[in-house]
Amino acid sequence: MDTSNEVKEQEKYRKKVKEINQNKIQKYTMLTMGCQLNENDSEKLCGMLEQMGYQRTNNQKEADLALFNTCCVRENAEDKLFGKLGELKRLKEEKGIIIAIGGCMMQEKHITDKIKESYPFVDILFGTHTLHKFPENLYKVLEEKKKLEDIIDIDGKIYEGLPIKRDSNIKASVTIMNGCNNFCSYCIVPYVRGRERSRKPRDVINEVRELARRGYQEITLLGQNVNSYLRVERERGMELEAYEGVNSFATLLKAINKIEGIERIRFVSPHPKDFTDDVMEAIASCDKVCKLVHLPLQSGNSKVLKEMNRNYTKEQYLTLVETMKAKIPDLTLSTDIIVGFPGETDEEFEDTLDVVRKVKFEQVYMFIYSRRVGTPGDKMENQIPEEHKHNRFNKLKALVESQIEENNQKYVGSVQRVLVEGESKNNKELLTGRTDSNKVVIFEASRELIGKVIDLKIVSEHMWYLKGEIEI
Ligand code: 5AD
Ligand code: SF4
Repeated sequence: MDTSNEVKEQEKYRKKVKEINQNKIQKYTMLTMGCQLNENDSEKLCGMLEQMGYQRTNNQKEADLALFNTCCVRENAEDKLFGKLGELKRLKEEKGIIIAIGGCMMQEKHITDKIKESYPFVDILFGTHTLHKFPENLYKVLEEKKKLEDIIDIDGKIYEGLPIKRDSNIKASVTIMNGCNNFCSYCIVPYVRGRERSRKPRDVINEVRELARRGYQEITLLGQNVNSYLRVERERGMELEAYEGVNSFATLLKAINKIEGIERIRFVSPHPKDFTDDVMEAIASCDKVCKLVHLPLQSGNSKVLKEMNRNYTKEQYLTLVETMKAKIPDLTLSTDIIVGFPGETDEEFEDTLDVVRKVKFEQVYMFIYSRRVGTPGDKMENQIPEEHKHNRFNKLKALVESQIEENNQKYVGSVQRVLVEGESKNNKELLTGRTDSNKVVIFEASRELIGKVIDLKIVSEHMWYLKGEIEI
């Protein structure tokens, strides 16, 4: 069956489940772990559920279905899932709540084995490649009252036209490619998300056009390796339909930049190797593409980078930063860093601090190395003791925080373009929004401005946010 027929088939199952639920309102909880790609998958799961007659709740006790969309990039997500399953056991016994678990962790056999053994009351296990079949799987569990496992090891196809319930009506994520071919030695993603494959330009552009029509202001393009969009297809010589001249990430940025109504374009997560000249030129020339670019460093030491299979050295990374800064006016950078990769010495870690001092990132996402079963990193013998990893993490954190404080000073007195996102969580009297460089700004203004891009004068800085005022 081709993918569009498979999607139609699932529409039938959505109707069938809705019929089963027609006389009662069904409620569900959804817990999403991990990255923005997973959040985007969860929006699709929510879209399917709402079409099947389910309403979302945050109260576990009143839920008829508990859904988990899991991540396996680091170990802490596993502890969180098992903790939650322990809590759900009573609800399963008392009211027969249906429990479904999907996402990256389900592509790991040792995890599904553990769930089947220690939490046998879980009803549905599904993987990253079978998300679109959730209605069918739910229907079977409701009808046949038995447990179901739907996990495949072969790369999923791309399913267009799934329902989607977005978390925001101002900012939207659009997944443009899936999977990864890089095999960084610490990373589990290539094993659980499969090989790189890109959506067709026509489908991506039409999705963004539809979002613009519905009033969305900001689009984040997503992919595990977002700036290698269409690379595999191009290299394999696959025939691509010419649509708006898009045959690469750079041309996609240019095509989306032309869509009226969209004010901002962001993208995550790229790989340094794919910042080719055309991509830099596109970022520079497209006025809507935010000039905050994510450039994952992982380590600042060339030997560690080699062991990580990152394919660049410290010097090459720094040269790339210089080239990008020269080509893209007003560029700021954010990054990901892992501390405590196997074999990393104190001196090698100093190189990471050195790069951080030199580049002065706008934001740094810091991670303690976590062993992932099945990756080359896990098999390395020279694992770093937890205590050393934590010490390095704290050292890096202190440096990053001092740089953020210093950087924040630069904002005070400046005027920033801010997309107004809604009420501030901590003070409902105030509004919150973000600058092009992704800084949170809190300010007093009329609610009518929610969803608009406005100019704000920054009056003070507070580590994780800035305070702004409307200039009169
Ligand atoms: N341990 C710690 N951090 C990791 N990341 C990926 N795999 C691991 C791991 N095993 C981090 C990388 C990546 C980000 C999404 O998560 O920094 O860029
Ligand atoms: Fe993981 Fe490296 Fe692929 Fe990113 S590029 S998903 S870190 S293997």
